[in-house]
Amino acid sequence: MTGARTAATKMTGQPTQKEETMNARRIEGAVALVTGANRGIGRALTEALLSRGVKKVYATARNPEALRALRDERLVSLRLDVTDADQIRAAAEAASDVELVFNNAGVALASAIADSTDLGQARREMEVNYFGPLQLLQRLAPTLARNGGGAVVNIGSAAGLTNLPFVPTYSASKAALHSLTQAARFLLAAQGTSVFGVYAGPVDTDMSRELAFPKTSPRDVAFAILDGIEAGQEDIFPDPFAVDFGRRFQSSPKASERQVAAMVSGEAARASRDQERPERARA
Ligand SMILES: NC(=O)c1ccc[n+]([C@@H]2O[C@H](COP(=O)([O-])OP(=O)(O)OC[C@H]3O[C@@H](n4cnc5c(N)ncnc54)[C@H](OP(=O)(O)O)[C@@H]3O)[C@@H](O)[C@H]2O)c1
Repeated sequence: MTGARTAATKMTGQPTQKEETMNARRIEGAVALVTGANRGIGRALTEALLSRGVKKVYATARNPEALRALRDERLVSLRLDVTDADQIRAAAEAASDVELVFNNAGVALASAIADSTDLGQARREMEVNYFGPLQLLQRLAPTLARNGGGAVVNIGSAAGLTNLPFVPTYSASKAALHSLTQAARFLLAAQGTSVFGVYAGPVDTDMSRELAFPKTSPRDVAFAILDGIEAGQEDIFPDPFAVDFGRRFQSSPKASERQVAAMVSGEAARASRDQERPERARA
């Protein structure tokens, strides 16, 4: 079976054991590439890959100097801004033995739709979060085919399944990435490439600094992602928030949309109360 799904999957929405086995990829001994490897989830993923025994990691960053703290003889540092077509071409040429590609680099910039008529931040989110992974996929798909199929792992977000109106345009860019993940899974199945979508909840990194929710550590998220890949789970929910969210979403996307709206309204009301009574906010 390539892109076509079995009757059992169609009935239940869950992958069969056979499909999971076909998707599963071994981490030990593999050659990986991670975008945005210098901090946050990308750095945690790079460290987790090394500790799980990869043969090599191409750790990529806009500024390779920022990768200095990651010391390991299996690590190859590359400069890669995922919005720069020339750098993508050069990185793809350098990483000719890559088998596992982690599209991790991401930005969340805009916090509103209606407050501003400037589309710059929303466009930038699309450039980094969607066009970046798309370009990398275009460049690296032939390499993965030559190297036996391998896998692409797209670090998306629960906000890509149901828009989180704290970050509306970021959510839209992650929805685009989710859609690309689905397309790539089908289109690359024939060359033996597995495509994983990761739908994380709040993770304790610079990106979510302003978010007042309980957060999972990037380290725990990174290991959960690698566990998901080794288990062949094509949709990976790598933290407790994401697991609960994923369950609700799968049972009713509309209920999930209403739940998120209620959550955001509750937070907005709390924030405006705190603004009126700053002593309460500090407590
Ligand atoms: N934190 C969360 O709650 C959360 C939840 C769900 C999904 N995610 C996703 O997880 C991924 C990692 O996020 P994070 O939480 O680790 O965020 P982070 O700490 O802000 O790190 C973002 C990373 O992306 C890199 N980056 C940004 N623009 C880039 C570009 N044009 N080219 C290459 N690298 C670029 C950054 O590099 P610089 O240091 O050069 O800026 C940095 O390494 C993102 O895709 C994010 O959307 C995060």
